[in-house]
Amino acid sequence: MIVDKFQRVHNYLRISLTDNCNLRCFYCMPEEDYEFTPASKLMQHDEIMAIAKVFTAEGVDKIRLTGGEPLVRKDAARIITSLAELPVTLTLTTNGTRLHEFLPVLKAAKIRSLNISLDTLQADKFNLLTRRNQFQQVFDNIHLMINNGFHVKVNVVVMKGLNDVEINDFIEWTKDVPVHVRFIEFMPFSGNRWTSNKVFTWQQILEVVGGKYPITSLAGEKNDTAKKYMVEGHAGTFAVISTMTSPFCAGCNRMRLTADGKMKNCLFSAEETDLLSALRNGQEILPLIKQSIGNKAKELGGQFTTDFEHLHAEDIHNRSMITIGG
Ligand code: 5AD
Ligand code: SF4
Repeated sequence: MIVDKFQRVHNYLRISLTDNCNLRCFYCMPEEDYEFTPASKLMQHDEIMAIAKVFTAEGVDKIRLTGGEPLVRKDAARIITSLAELPVTLTLTTNGTRLHEFLPVLKAAKIRSLNISLDTLQADKFNLLTRRNQFQQVFDNIHLMINNGFHVKVNVVVMKGLNDVEINDFIEWTKDVPVHVRFIEFMPFSGNRWTSNKVFTWQQILEVVGGKYPITSLAGEKNDTAKKYMVEGHAGTFAVISTMTSPFCAGCNRMRLTADGKMKNCLFSAEETDLLSALRNGQEILPLIKQSIGNKAKELGGQFTTDFEHLHAEDIHNRSMITIGG
């Protein structure tokens, strides 16, 4: 088992397959001339499998693939197919643009649940946020996956003055469509233009939805990052991921592996442990994994607190979101 100083058992690994993406969301990518990691520096198929097996032997039973955009990687289908052989629940966080091409692969891999990022229901705003004209493809793919029986969670990063006005449009969408919308508080990462006044809080989100709909809270599970709610009579549900105002670090069971094979014990950890180089040098990686988890901070990578009004993004030592993988 992989257990930290605070008795948190870590059974969930998020693996980034690439820092490349076919969208350009400003809150995720640092700048236009960002250089993607060359393929030779990325974990290769066999290396991903070797590292994943060390984790599963230690009790990891859930793996989520992330990016960048995981499905832009050329051998994504092969990696998904191989990971599906391990004794894990396999899931994926994707921008949704290529899901129609991957439907058979995802079905064969017995993937049941998908997280799809979509921050707006307006095509012109989508172009502004992502700098790519793919709204309809993503929207259609969300319905395609739901119609094929997948449990679909839609991640919406709420930013004041940008898409906070659309919160109830998303709720309206859940009326007839069994989609699970998750509003995420805007988080600071290297180069992502975060300022505290752009954070639209959990409390504010509940006020907006509660002002129009009767809402009930749903019971959560131990490791949940999202506070879940339902609107009476709606086919779907909604939730809030309140990282900034009410983090869920006490129940954290998550570890991350970047596409270049560095382990992060927290989304906000400054420290990284280079598992890929160790593997390539023929070293044992389990001691490194245990050491990394042994150093895990209690909350938010030890870098900030919920007093985010006084936080300056540049004081946090971290990568940009696209190189961490969400
Ligand atoms: N704040 C909150 N969520 C973010 N994501 C990316 N960047 C940020 C940020 N700065 C979300 C994406 C995606 C998930 C992996 O993380 O929308 O759904
Ligand atoms: Fe790509 Fe997702 Fe980042 Fe947008 S948020 S640039 S879709 S990885």
